[in-house]
Amino acid sequence: MSDILDKTDLRFSELGASSPLEIKLLFEELLGRAKEEARSISGPSELESFRVRWIGRKNSIFSKIQDNWLVSAAPDQRRSIGSFFNSYKGFVQQIVDSCEGAIEVLEMKDPPRGKSGFDLSLPGVIRPIGTHHLIRQVLQEIEDIFFSIGFSVVEGPEIETPYYNFEALNIPEFHPVRDDMDTFYLELLKSAPGPLLLRTHTSPVQIRTMEKRQPPVRVIVPGKVYRRDNPDATHSFMFHQIEGLAVDSDITFCDFTGTIDYFVRRFFGESVKTRFRPSYFPFTEPSVEFDVSCVFCGGSGTAKSGGTCGKCKGSGWIELFGAGMVDPAVYGFVNYDPKKVSGFAFGIGIDRLAMLRYGIDDIQAFSQNDVRFLKQFP
Ligand code: DAH
Repeated sequence: MSDILDKTDLRFSELGASSPLEIKLLFEELLGRAKEEARSISGPSELESFRVRWIGRKNSIFSKIQDNWLVSAAPDQRRSIGSFFNSYKGFVQQIVDSCEGAIEVLEMKDPPRGKSGFDLSLPGVIRPIGTHHLIRQVLQEIEDIFFSIGFSVVEGPEIETPYYNFEALNIPEFHPVRDDMDTFYLELLKSAPGPLLLRTHTSPVQIRTMEKRQPPVRVIVPGKVYRRDNPDATHSFMFHQIEGLAVDSDITFCDFTGTIDYFVRRFFGESVKTRFRPSYFPFTEPSVEFDVSCVFCGGSGTAKSGGTCGKCKGSGWIELFGAGMVDPAVYGFVNYDPKKVSGFAFGIGIDRLAMLRYGIDDIQAFSQNDVRFLKQFP
């Protein structure tokens, strides 16, 4: 009998091996055979058959060696058979382990069909989808209302010259209204052609638009504006305005109030009332301040709880924004003939409108980027 595997069916005394060297050679031959067979393993099921055949508990080569060789050996040979027997098991186990590792790596690189290596039943990573900021949402709503009556959007620079921010709007140097807008000037080289500042309102874009276009003009101008205000619940160094300008040959004060009234009702609801009060802006004449009946107490001045309404301080009215008929002096700066054209303008604070509409009492919330706040306006 020459095949080593057949020899595992024999009792040890029948093998004709007695010296430790002969025992060692027997085991070496066995392990050589195990290695050879392991070479043809190409998947998990073949690996499992190999394991069962070589070191399984029952009817394996391992159990045959134990039953046929170890048990039947003379006591003086049992010791060296025992130690080879142990290393046999460890060696075959090593082959199994390394085949297992190799199979895993191969499967990840080239997954068999129907088995991706990924657990498709696990829930995926949920990435929250962002939304428009509330200011953007309110701005779009305002734009839509003005689009519906023929206005279009224009934009202008946030860094302005004093000419557009002040002079061309009929605010000469040393005019007292500049005090309110004493603001952020840029540090420039001495050789710069003139000073520049962060615009304090969107009104300069009125001038820029009229310089470029002939009447009829009907535009709105959304954008950021900057003032040197100390931050508190109603002031911020940066906020948003939407400017409006309509100029044509026959625009009347009625067109003006009708347009504003239409906008306010569309924005706050049909039931609100509007009123205007005389005011002053250098670039409009007459100038007005538009109020809306208090959206919190319905104009009664009394809070739902019974006391004085805290939002309108009991007056029943809330100040909304400034507006007016374009001052003829402004037309002089853009080469329009004041005898032939007339028009109106307004400047709405978007942040203020959003605060009124949603009952937000701190303007700082818009720029703090707190998702607990932002999430409330999906
Ligand atoms: N520019 C003014 C401000 O920021 C707001 C304003 C008032 C704009 C009246 C206008 C207007 O166009 O007619 O305070």
